[in-house]
Amino acid sequence: MRITVCRKGHFSAAHRLHNPNWDDEKNQRVFGDCNNPQFHGHNYEVIVKVTGELDPETGYLIDLKILRDMINEHVLDRFDHRNLYTEVEDFRNLNPTAENIAIVIWKILREKIDKKYEIKVTLYETERNFVEYEGQ
Ligand code: NI
Repeated sequence: MRITVCRKGHFSAAHRLHNPNWDDEKNQRVFGDCNNPQFHGHNYEVIVKVTGELDPETGYLIDLKILRDMINEHVLDRFDHRNLYTEVEDFRNLNPTAENIAIVIWKILREKIDKKYEIKVTLYETERNFVEYEGQ
């Protein structure tokens, strides 16, 4: 029986959107306020969905305590109250857009979560803007 369990987490972080290969004028034109050199912050919500076969012995798909601890340790503690653009290694050469943040989170968790599960990451940058990534 296939089923999906979800765990939600939260982190606050600062960023700016910037392509170092472009001049200031083009960065400003493409990214607008998001290019502000003084940075700005978001309250990000991340939802991790894990899909697989239900274990009939436990009635679990995956132990949610283990999933929670994994997300806390490897994602939330890594990003919370950080400046993604200047402080987080994952974005040294990667523009910290919502899309790229979701991909980075998916890649981090893909290495930690058993391959028998499929995982999908949904990242809310604002209440109305969110992205989803499930690999590929
Ligand atoms: Ni932003």
